[in-house]
Amino acid sequence: MGSLRFLTAGESHGQALGVTLEGVPAGLALTADRVAVDLARRQRGYGRGARQAIEKDRAEIVSGVRHGLTLGSPILLLVRNRDWENWTRVMQVEPLSEEEAAELAALAAEGTTRAAPITRVRPGHADLAGALKYGFNDVRNVLERASARETTARVAAGAVARAFLAEFGVEIWSFTAEVGGDAVDPGNCSRTREEADASPLRCPDPDAEERMIARIDEARSNGDTVGGVFEVVARGVPIGLGSYVHWDRRLDAALAAAIMSINIVKGVELGLGFEQTRRFGSAVHDVIEGRTDDGRWVHRSNNAGGLTGGISNGEPIVVRGAVKPISTLARPLPSADLVSGRPVEKAHYERSDISVVPAAGVVGEAMVALVLADAVLHKFGGDSIDETRDNLERYRARIARAPEASVPGGAEADSGGAEAGSGGDD
Ligand SMILES: Cc1cc2nc3c(=O)[nH]c(=O)nc-3n(C[C@H](O)[C@H](O)[C@H](O)COP(=O)(O)O)c2cc1C
Repeated sequence: MGSLRFLTAGESHGQALGVTLEGVPAGLALTADRVAVDLARRQRGYGRGARQAIEKDRAEIVSGVRHGLTLGSPILLLVRNRDWENWTRVMQVEPLSEEEAAELAALAAEGTTRAAPITRVRPGHADLAGALKYGFNDVRNVLERASARETTARVAAGAVARAFLAEFGVEIWSFTAEVGGDAVDPGNCSRTREEADASPLRCPDPDAEERMIARIDEARSNGDTVGGVFEVVARGVPIGLGSYVHWDRRLDAALAAAIMSINIVKGVELGLGFEQTRRFGSAVHDVIEGRTDDGRWVHRSNNAGGLTGGISNGEPIVVRGAVKPISTLARPLPSADLVSGRPVEKAHYERSDISVVPAAGVVGEAMVALVLADAVLHKFGGDSIDETRDNLERYRARIARAPEASVPGGAEADSGGAEAGSGGDD
């Protein structure tokens, strides 16, 4: 919708990751400590690799904030890579002098893998398609940006969007719903949100988590990797974000694209998702209970995941992302060499995660926050938080009352029921 925009920059082993966020109204309280909470959550999770022990991500707020409040100007956040000090020559920005090139070649010759060009492309990663597309003969040039280290910058931006949404009572959370085919049992989700957040896989079902951990251990001992499913839930979202009038104004489509944009996500479900196709309509559609005395519209269930007609319907928004197994395997698959084009026995391996479902869930939260913040700004506008709040409150008060029948097809035109045997509307 374009009211809130962001662009990230940075390579996995470069100096820093950065993000510019444009469109945040003035007057939002924002501190680096607040952003740090989400960055730390992204780094956790059973199955992550050694990199997370090196990095202690913290965003510097470089611009757009004064005395703890946003100014309405672009917000620039920078997260420095601690690992950079080990990569200064390999990732040097300036052209290599003859001596520096010789130094790199010597490092490669003595077996320092990071100094050598990468040509044995990894199945399932961006290596082959990326190298051919950009004309590289060293896959390092691809993987440095294709790496999900970039999602650190998204999570930093998402923390700003989360702070903005919290002003209006919108809360976003995620949990690990499945790893390697072992899923949570909704009847056994005994952990509170805080307990789940503190658990190794950020999982509300302790028994399922044990089985999931066993799957990750199994993958690790086989030099393999394993995927899963995360679920993001957004509560307190006002009715009416998004629209059915154009494909690119549908909130469901924007959320699906945002989740699918996370490197590693290969499927998205909203609400009941694919399960709807296996049930009759009467067992899918959420009965509308009516308007409560305090003006809220309530559904009996939430199979739609808070989204109908491309619009938020006031119920919690529920989005799931399918996370494929990591493609860098400690016991690499056979592959081919980028330069010779010939088969090789083993694809490239470099330090890697084994399973990242909880971390992907935190990235999912950030993407959902950014989409919802954009949709709130698109609908309610506002150059300051107070102005956005006034607009939103006025709208909330209006939809809490009976409509005044000024809209075509409003209360006066209500026929009071469906007609049997009528044709479809498509
Ligand atoms: C939080 C997170 C961490 C990841 N860590 C790794 C990793 O250590 N090794 C790896 O090969 N892929 C990792 N990935 C996935 C790759 O970035 C991704 O598979 C790759 O960019 C190709 O994109 P695609 O899977 O969307 O096709 C990670 C993804 C996420 C979200």
